[in-house]
Amino acid sequence: MMIRVGILTVSDKGFAGEREDKSGEEIRRLVGTIEAEVVRYDIVPDERELIEQKLREWSDGCAVDLILTTGGTGLSPRDVTPEATLAIVDRLVPGIAEVMRQESLKKTPFAMLSRAAAGIRRSTLIVNLPGSPKSVRENLQSILAALPHGIEKLKGDPTECGQP
Ligand code: MTE
Repeated sequence: MMIRVGILTVSDKGFAGEREDKSGEEIRRLVGTIEAEVVRYDIVPDERELIEQKLREWSDGCAVDLILTTGGTGLSPRDVTPEATLAIVDRLVPGIAEVMRQESLKKTPFAMLSRAAAGIRRSTLIVNLPGSPKSVRENLQSILAALPHGIEKLKGDPTECGQP
């Protein structure tokens, strides 16, 4: 099964064109190591409404199986990606965030400062990743192997998106 991936970069600077989106590129590289294709990509500023809107649009359109966000998971006042995610998901997948923090703590004590969340809207799995390319790499690598099985189960629900 080919997993259809959406990459959503959440960054004021990236949106303003003041910073190259190296983290989005890192996600693209890593998902290339599993059976997946990137079908959506966008950058939004750290605005809760805009993040929610994009997550809803991609999930409800049933064209994306997995949304990976990067950025906005920390403690600074503008970091609202987890709040936007939690506001629009139907079900939580806490184990994904637990493992990311557990594995990341082996690399840096700052790992506890990521408030990243993961959950399901309709038949789309949404996972928050922190903002830097290094943290994207370390976090995504720790969960990547389990994602295809989870998404396969998710797509097996016939009530969602008219899947058989
Ligand atoms: N996780 C890993 N694996 N490696 C890292 O370097 N950086 C941390 C943390 N998680 C980091 C990490 C830091 S410094 C912060 S502030 C938080 O993620 C939140 O990052 P964000 O605000 O860019 O989302």
